[in-house]
Amino acid sequence: MPLIAVLPGDGIGPEVIDASLPVVSAAAKSAGLTLDYERALVGGVAYDDGGHPLPKKTLKLCDKAAAIYFGAVGGPKYDKIPDPNLRPERGALLPLRKRYSLYANVRPAFAYKSLEDRSPLKRERVQGMDMLVCRELVGGAYFGKKQLKATSAYDVIEYNSKQIELILTFAFKAALLRKKHVTLVHKANVLATSILWKKVWDKVRVKYPDVQVDDCYVDAFAMYLISRPATYDVVVTENMMGDILTDEAAQVMGSIGLIPSASLGKAKTKWGVFGLYEPSHGSAPDIAGKGIANPLSTILSGAMMLRYSFGAEKAAQQIERAVEKVLDQGLRTGDLAAKGETSLSTTEMGQAVLKAL
Ligand code: IPM
Ligand code: MG
Repeated sequence: MPLIAVLPGDGIGPEVIDASLPVVSAAAKSAGLTLDYERALVGGVAYDDGGHPLPKKTLKLCDKAAAIYFGAVGGPKYDKIPDPNLRPERGALLPLRKRYSLYANVRPAFAYKSLEDRSPLKRERVQGMDMLVCRELVGGAYFGKKQLKATSAYDVIEYNSKQIELILTFAFKAALLRKKHVTLVHKANVLATSILWKKVWDKVRVKYPDVQVDDCYVDAFAMYLISRPATYDVVVTENMMGDILTDEAAQVMGSIGLIPSASLGKAKTKWGVFGLYEPSHGSAPDIAGKGIANPLSTILSGAMMLRYSFGAEKAAQQIERAVEKVLDQGLRTGDLAAKGETSLSTTEMGQAVLKAL
């Protein structure tokens, strides 16, 4: 029986994971897939427990799992840990991404019909948005050499052509299954790494003659993402640009609580691609423990897990349709509710999706 390592983590992590697991498990079961779930500590709670945000026990569990279902890590309390390498983001999440070479972070951003009025953009601009951001996840400034001194600091952005080729190839393959258009986002007017990205891009894109391409400076893309988001299909970019742009894309959708994420590597298990699945939002310490967080991003990440790590496409779509249905029914968590609209708790939203399955 395939095993899922469940790492709820900090802040709203445990709340959104608890609301999502019954949905994932029910959809998996209906596809004839019985999954085993085992929990472990990660992030600040793990640090509190044993002095490290990524305990050996947790790594052992992840090593034998077919996928990792991740909540969120971090919080103001843990920003004060003196050694930055022991803080939850740099001490747990990034090492997990690196350990399993999860180079492709996939974040689908699209406009739900019933949420078009929740986007900060005018309806006619957001209508039809349906993009897939492929963010390189194990290179760039996140993993380059760093130094922090009293009055100076640096973070090196480093990429090699192999790394770039991997994520570009991933993006082109994804585009073949969609609208066959890839946009490369870069800053080649300033950054040497972006010049290399464009060089590799020119080599890779000719292998996919059926795919239309364009490329765009990241500052301009940030602008187009709010002026004409519906014109994009697959968007591929480096680590930090992808981090920033996917938050922007999430807000265009209506809430950061909506956008799911899959982090995939080259490793395969018996059932599919090994991956880490997490909502794109963070631990949201301001609302943690209140039971009001939106679990949809985590539920939809669970759907991606069934799709990529277990080849259960039908079950994934079943979840995605159920989410659409509850939104069509007008059910909303606080982040999505308009003034005067009643909002559901995290648990109630999870149950609503379960019922809609
Ligand atoms: C994300 C998050 C992380 C990142 C943080 C928590 C380190 O913002 O997954 O987008 O920057 O990658
Ligand atoms: Mg982010």
